[in-house]
Amino acid sequence: MIFYTIFISQNELLHLKKKLNVIKNKNNKSHSTQFDVLVVGELNIDLILNGLQQFPEVGKEILADNMIYTLGSSAAIFASNLSALGVSVNYCGCIGNDDFGKKIIVDLESKGVGTENIIQTNHVKTGITVAFNFDQQRAMVTYPGAMNELNENDITDAMLSNAKHLHVSSMFLQPALKPGLPKLFKRAKDLGLTTSLDPQWDTTEKWESDWKTLLAFVDVFLPNIEELRNITKKQNVDEAVATLKDFANMIVVKKSVEGASAFYKNEITNQPAFINHEFADAIGAGDSFNAGFIREFIFDKSLKQCTELGAVCGAINTTAHGGTTAFTDLASIKKIALKKFNYILQ
Ligand SMILES: Nc1ncnc2c1ncn2[C@@H]1O[C@H](COP(=O)(O)OP(=O)(O)O)[C@@H](O)[C@H]1O
Ligand SMILES: [Mg+2]
Repeated sequence: MIFYTIFISQNELLHLKKKLNVIKNKNNKSHSTQFDVLVVGELNIDLILNGLQQFPEVGKEILADNMIYTLGSSAAIFASNLSALGVSVNYCGCIGNDDFGKKIIVDLESKGVGTENIIQTNHVKTGITVAFNFDQQRAMVTYPGAMNELNENDITDAMLSNAKHLHVSSMFLQPALKPGLPKLFKRAKDLGLTTSLDPQWDTTEKWESDWKTLLAFVDVFLPNIEELRNITKKQNVDEAVATLKDFANMIVVKKSVEGASAFYKNEITNQPAFINHEFADAIGAGDSFNAGFIREFIFDKSLKQCTELGAVCGAINTTAHGGTTAFTDLASIKKIALKKFNYILQ
């Protein structure tokens, strides 16, 4: 009998375990599919409990008036709404082999988003955020689960080659993906794609990244104003933008009801928000802004046209609860844009 000794590092072992546990990753199919935008990001369920009489207390039980069980995650809202705007979109993210994961697939597919590059794994569960809404306040608990799993190697050259544009969102919620982002964006650029990044909030509030290397490969950087301030450690927007200007490309700062400002080379476009008289909530407004902006950007529209459709889509988002409700299909989005914001969407 011959005994073999195999030396394998802890990291390699983890990677191997993960690969063996992957039960669904139809990457091979991506060879036959072409799409406009590949979205890489977190995937999770939102469970929102509304109408509480108070916040939960240890040892007691309270009732909620209403419950919303829905597809969460910034990148998924972006993907759904961009698809509803008529762009072909494919998603790469990580979910568990469970009912939450199945719901995510069904919801994305119902909006026309391609899901064959989503990785389903047996060894972790799909992530979930439970939100407790009391009065005007909200407390949230997130179980990241499969959101911790995706890494740069999971996004293959075949997936990238099938897309014209790469969009990544929520870098701080994906610890395995974050260190590989400069490499991923460089690979995308080398393969001829245009690229965009929405950093989203850093729950650790450290805001650490190799920004210089990363942003050099990002064509459109899409932070909101608080994220920009935290990343640059500057309060004033012009000063904040100045700290990134030497290595970043286009910087688009979202400023809630103040609209947005886009900076590219020496060009500055200030876009006011579209006034919404029927405000429901602003959940996902930034992701809808991104969807409108990128729809125009991938078709080489001007900076003004990109920011304008971004602002229209941000405003449309706020006319209904949640991030995707107002974005059913192109015909109804066009109607809302015209009726509520006097904007003709081509
Ligand atoms: N109450 C609102 N009314 C009209 N437009 C809005 C409103 N809130 C946000 N928007 C639009 O959506 C965009 C993105 O929203 P913002 O809250 O800045 O992003 P994020 O969700 O990333 O924080 C804004 O730039 C603005 O154009
Ligand atoms: Mg945002």
